[in-house]
Amino acid sequence: MSDDVILVEVDGSGVGWLTLNRPATHNAFDDALIARMTEALEGLGGNPDVRAAVLAANGKSFSAGADLGWMRRVAEYTFEQNVDDAMGLARMLRTLDRLPKPTIARVQGAALGGGVGLVAACDIAVAADTATFALTEVKLGLVPGAISPYVIAAIGARQARRYFLTAERFDAARALDLGLVHLVAPADGLDGAVGELLETLATNGPQAMAGAKDLVYAIAGRPIDEDVMRESAERIAGARASDEGRARVQTFLDRPRGG
Ligand code: COA
Repeated sequence: MSDDVILVEVDGSGVGWLTLNRPATHNAFDDALIARMTEALEGLGGNPDVRAAVLAANGKSFSAGADLGWMRRVAEYTFEQNVDDAMGLARMLRTLDRLPKPTIARVQGAALGGGVGLVAACDIAVAADTATFALTEVKLGLVPGAISPYVIAAIGARQARRYFLTAERFDAARALDLGLVHLVAPADGLDGAVGELLETLATNGPQAMAGAKDLVYAIAGRPIDEDVMRESAERIAGARASDEGRARVQTFLDRPRGG
């Protein structure tokens, strides 16, 4: 197996697989891995052959979050240097969050700290029933800073207040209740569950999915006023007249009908 910390592969079905590959440290990430991930995500996002992306991880854990060796090293930085460094993680998470393709997190084992952030920044998260989660930052005297927008968006401010403060470990069933993950599968059925989602996504219009994803960023949390009505109307108007929209509507209308 490659000793590269990130493995990137685009398969024949147009699925971009980004696999964390630091199993010896439970896929903890440092500045170097974050830079590689940002680059890999930008590559998948800009690759017209990629229809969907899966964020996976090799080894026992999905990700143990921030590399604590890195945390110790940056403690010596000035405040400004630390802000710059932390912005690298913020940019990577935003690149993942805004990837113009559907993203699926495939979660096995532990997802801790920043690992929870990675899960929350994907569109869809599928966890093995044996997966565990915790926002452990406060145990280490840290805060879940860069990941907070994504985790709060996923589980809501009320639950975030509990789990940010207690650092309790919770299981996959609880992650499902919280809305952090969408699906829980038996550990040996995890790939099957991800595969089914990928098959479903493969049947949908790529531009429409990018547009639908962008709608969530544009509309969520806004009051339903004239601006929102106008913007949403313009977006559907654009999709209706697009080549993809015209072709897919026509294909539906031309479908063979049962006699
Ligand atoms: N950063 C750097 N190294 C880490 C790490 C992290 N976040 N998490 C685990 N590791 C390393 C350990 O130091 C250990 O290294 P070693 O073999 O050189 O001693 C190795 O991974 C195995 O960890 P270990 O604790 O022995 O394995 P485990 O199976 O008992 O537990 C975890 C695995 C992930 C549950 C546990 O290591 C853990 O809780 N890590 C801290 C995670 C965390 O709080 N992250 C949030 C940071 S903000």
